[in-house]
Amino acid sequence: MKILLLGANGQLGAELNRQLPLIAETKAYTHSKLDITDTQAVIEAISSFEPNVIVNTAAYTAVDKAEEEKALAYAINSDAVAVLAQQAAKQGAWLIHYSTDYIFDGGKTTPYTEIDTPNPINVYGASKLAGEEFITTSNCNHLIFRTTWVIGKDGKNFAKTILRLATQQDSLSVISDQYGVPTSPSLITNVTIDAIKAIKKQRAWPSGAYNLVPLGISTWHEVAQTLITIAEENSVPLAISATDILAITTAEYLTPAKRPLNSRLETQKLSRQLSFHLPNWKDDFSAVAAEVIKEFK
Ligand SMILES: NC(=O)c1ccc[n+]([C@@H]2O[C@H](COP(=O)([O-])OP(=O)(O)OC[C@H]3O[C@@H](n4cnc5c(N)ncnc54)[C@H](OP(=O)(O)O)[C@@H]3O)[C@@H](O)[C@H]2O)c1
Repeated sequence: MKILLLGANGQLGAELNRQLPLIAETKAYTHSKLDITDTQAVIEAISSFEPNVIVNTAAYTAVDKAEEEKALAYAINSDAVAVLAQQAAKQGAWLIHYSTDYIFDGGKTTPYTEIDTPNPINVYGASKLAGEEFITTSNCNHLIFRTTWVIGKDGKNFAKTILRLATQQDSLSVISDQYGVPTSPSLITNVTIDAIKAIKKQRAWPSGAYNLVPLGISTWHEVAQTLITIAEENSVPLAISATDILAITTAEYLTPAKRPLNSRLETQKLSRQLSFHLPNWKDDFSAVAAEVIKEFK
């Protein structure tokens, strides 16, 4: 079993790069070693290594900036993904790819299932949806894991921003009307490894999209409060306490890109395949928070 990993220094890519070599021969490329928009380089990387599984974590993830960098967002999240899907089909490799709740408009009042109709409300979501569509029409064996609010110990993310602000400012406002859950790169990695082990045992999960988030429901405000509470319990020097974090609405915090109010994803389809139970978001996030606060102690 050979695995080709792309985007190996992102939040998710870095965690996969630590774990995948423990289960199979893995060739990992960071952005600087392989730009996935360089079609010839991608074809060469795939045809020379002949992977059984291509794991693509490379993505344009700057949601607000994508509104003005539409061509670049589509080049990375859609056109490059089309090439990966074509090459996977040609080589008979599986393509494991990651997508987002931002393919939905957030107008549904219950969690989104894999068969709900997408309707992105920002460029990032539309570019990720276009990437998904190239995969599903390519005839390659594939797993698309749709996840939300990825927060881990690597790279820039919401938790690091909140902690930094909480050490500097005595007031902090966080959105409380967008519903979803944070998802750790560790959880996404564990699910990816479970799926790869199934491929290895010739018991591959059916090709398609799978929602991949921990259980429960939360808001950005609750995630921020949970993080600062853990920081307080661990004596991180802070300028604000968890209970002082103000709850604001999306309408009070305007951003270039619109965000869905409902980011909840239904995970029954994934749970039917998994060899382990999905954790509750607070357990999943607490492990990340414990790592992130170390940088601020
Ligand atoms: N972050 C979230 O909240 C979130 C939520 C839902 C779904 N997702 C999806 O989950 C996956 C992983 O996200 P993440 O949080 O790990 O993202 P991330 O931390 O932004 O990592 C993305 C990686 O892709 C690399 N990259 C960007 N353009 C590239 C290119 N042209 N060629 C090769 N590599 C390139 C980046 O490298 P540089 O930094 O060097 O440019 C970075 O290492 C993505 O598919 C994302 O869409 C993320």
